[in-house]
Amino acid sequence: MSKQLWNKGFEPDKMIERFTVGKDRELDLRLARYDVQGSMAHIRMLESIGLLTKDELSLLLPALQEIADSIEKGEFTIEDGIEDVHSQVEFLLTAKLGDVGKKIHSGRSRNDQVLVDLKLFFRDELKRIAEAVGRLFDRLQSLSEAHRDKLMPGYTHLQVAMPSSFGLWFGAYAESLVDDMQLVAAAYNIANQNPLGSAAGYGSSFPLDREMTTSLLGFADLHYNVVAAQMSRGKTERAVAAAIAAVAATLGHLAMDVCMWMCNNFGFVKFPDELTTGSSIMPHKKNPDVFEIMRGKCNRMQSLPNELTILTANLPLGYNRDLQLMKDIMFPATTDLVECLDMADFMLSHIEVKADILDDSRYDYIFTVEDVNRLVREGVPFRDAYRKVGLSVQDGTYSPTREIRHTHIGSIGDPANEKIAAKMKSILSKFK
Ligand code: ARG
Repeated sequence: MSKQLWNKGFEPDKMIERFTVGKDRELDLRLARYDVQGSMAHIRMLESIGLLTKDELSLLLPALQEIADSIEKGEFTIEDGIEDVHSQVEFLLTAKLGDVGKKIHSGRSRNDQVLVDLKLFFRDELKRIAEAVGRLFDRLQSLSEAHRDKLMPGYTHLQVAMPSSFGLWFGAYAESLVDDMQLVAAAYNIANQNPLGSAAGYGSSFPLDREMTTSLLGFADLHYNVVAAQMSRGKTERAVAAAIAAVAATLGHLAMDVCMWMCNNFGFVKFPDELTTGSSIMPHKKNPDVFEIMRGKCNRMQSLPNELTILTANLPLGYNRDLQLMKDIMFPATTDLVECLDMADFMLSHIEVKADILDDSRYDYIFTVEDVNRLVREGVPFRDAYRKVGLSVQDGTYSPTREIRHTHIGSIGDPANEKIAAKMKSILSKFK
């Protein structure tokens, strides 16, 4: 006898079962703890509205706690023949408690159950991402301060342009992460709303106390309208994907910079030998594979919003099984992002930065704007000063004064790291 919750006396075709269940048995393991949390809140609420007795509740709660413990110990599995985590939990309860176990699904559908699981899951994953971003942010800021006065070339069109500094370079990625965190916080707020009670997507004729489950599960608010609650599947994922893609874009960009600055032709940064990788044929190679893998993973993560858009475009209103496939897109991505953030933090804790790069005569022209500005300060109109320096470059007589006077806020002389730290602190405080 097959074990579908919806079994009505006929055996579903095995091939159909395998195809529709797909990777759920494996992926749903990440939802298991949230599924139990959701069920605990749901049955407390059912008891409060008279659909379970106190005695039934006091049998069910410890049994669910036992399942929760087995999940934390890594002993929980979804058995063959059982479709998903929601079914597995109900089967375990029924196996243990008989008829009482069969009562927990009143006023609920797997459609709102999986929604609750996903919201709780994304809430935690976004918090994990926020913490990892916070750690990398701190690393970048302290590197910015430590190397504040070490100059490096700034490029436009990948041509040597104006003086920059390691203080600005590290600090730039820190501030860029602040903007990404706005999106992470927005996704967090969208995920932090309770869909439970929307059932199959159209509510229930039981007088469900949805405010009670909202507060039991620690959600900031509800998805009130039951149809909107069901619509939030896909919408939540797209918000999370946008946040992940934003952080990934910044991190991927940083990874590309590091690969380039590590290139022998630049040689601006290096890492201890044991953090580089070698070649099977060229004995001298010390390769930046870590940052290449990071760049590749981050580039892939930027396709997440696109993948979800294509998967969910023009679905009919209400639950559709296509939505199940989003788990396979989103679950590996949150893990990959946190792993990349932690790896970047680790690598940067060992970065070595070259001093006195701009003393090399190949960067002489980087000082032309400084010299134009010096003439302007002496009273020469800007366009005349520009021409004068330009002509000296043209006829080969230009010789840089190498004097740098950037003092305004956000410049080499004042990277404003404390102001940027204050912005980050205020966003991170929203994840409490
Ligand atoms: N595994 C399913 C999913 O992720 C659970 C919900 C099933 N609901 C249904 N009506 N078949 O979407």
